[in-house]
Amino acid sequence: MTDRELFRLSVKAAENAYAPYSGFKVGAALLTKDGRVFTGCNVENSSYGATICAERGAMMKAISEGCRNFEAIAISGNGGSSWPCGICRQFMFEFSEDLRIISGDGEDALKVHSLSELLPEGFRL
Ligand code: THU
Repeated sequence: MTDRELFRLSVKAAENAYAPYSGFKVGAALLTKDGRVFTGCNVENSSYGATICAERGAMMKAISEGCRNFEAIAISGNGGSSWPCGICRQFMFEFSEDLRIISGDGEDALKVHSLSELLPEGFRL
């Protein structure tokens, strides 16, 4: 699975986003160490704080299926770049500090950062 393919899957996943309030449709495609891909999209709510981000949706699907070892996640917002919010960074940090995070303005302009770059000194109990 290449970064470009994973990003493409994130764009596809965003088709299912429920984003009537922001109009910003986010998709995430999470690659596990054993080669499985779990996708997610943002699901907004009239009570805005109840909104769930695409990244956490994808992580929840994977973890609830017994997968906890992650290689990379690609994220897109309206087909372009979308980097994870602070809550999602911390949520992902719990499972994989060195997760590769891929996003960019289209599949020809992808950038990659490790999660520990985006969240230095993440919180751990
Ligand atoms: N959003 C995500 O899905 N992931 C993030 O990491 C940042 C924000 C969503 C939440 C909301 O539905 C929309 O983007 C605008 O904030």
